[in-house]
Amino acid sequence: MKFFIDTANLDHILEARELGILDGVTTNPSLMAKEGISGKQQIYTHYKKICDLVEGDVSAEVISTEFEGMVKEGRELAEIAPNIVVKVPMIKDGIKAIVEFNKLNIKTNCTLVFSAGQAILAAKAGATYLSPFIGRIDDTNWDGIQLISEIYEVYSVQGYETEILAASIRNSRQIVESAKAGADIVTCPLSAILGLLKHPLTDIGLQIFLDDHKKASAKLTGQ
Ligand code: E4P
Repeated sequence: MKFFIDTANLDHILEARELGILDGVTTNPSLMAKEGISGKQQIYTHYKKICDLVEGDVSAEVISTEFEGMVKEGRELAEIAPNIVVKVPMIKDGIKAIVEFNKLNIKTNCTLVFSAGQAILAAKAGATYLSPFIGRIDDTNWDGIQLISEIYEVYSVQGYETEILAASIRNSRQIVESAKAGADIVTCPLSAILGLLKHPLTDIGLQIFLDDHKKASAKLTGQ
C-alpha cells in the first residue's frame, strides 16, 4: 500500500518525505486555503513547490464544475509539472472530464466519492485514482471502511485498474483498516502517519534495553 500525505503544508510534506515512505501528495481547495494560499498565480506556484519536493503524484483539484472549464483548468494544472494529477469531483461533468483527460493522457483523481456506484462510474470513465472519503462517512454514523471493502470487491471482480485511494483519514487505526480492506493507497495527515509509530511497549522496551546496556557497560569498566 502506498502512502500519500493529505496536506498543502510544505513542512509536513518535508517531514513525511524525510521518513522515506512518502509516495505522493493530495491537496484540495480547503487545504490550500488553510495554508493561506489564494489566487491562481499563488496556487499554481504552491503546486510547483509541492511537485518539486516529491517524486510521486501530486493531486491538484479543479475549481470549475462544468466540462469545458474543468478540461481547460486541468490542462493548465498538468502543465505545472509531470507529476500533477488532476483532481475532479464526482459529478456528471466530472465524469465527462475524466474521459477527456484520459484521451489527453492526463492522470486523474476522482474525488468526493461516497458510494460503490460512484466508484463504478469513475472506473468506467478511466480515473487513475478514486478517493472514497472514509472519515466523512464515519462522521455521519455510516461505515467508511465498509465502503472501501465494497469498492475493492467490485474492482477485483470487474478487473478495473483504477486505484483505490482511501481519503479523509483522521487517525492511524483507519490506515490499518484501509490496508485490510484492500486500499491501494492511503492519504492522511502527518499526525496519522506518525501515529503509526506509537506504542507504549515500544518506548518501555527501548528504555529497558538502553538501561541494561548501560548497566553492563558500567560493570565492564568497573564504574
Ligand atoms: C482527499 O483527497 C481529501 O483532500 C481529504 O482526504 C478530505 O479529508 P477531510 O474529510 O479530512 O477534509
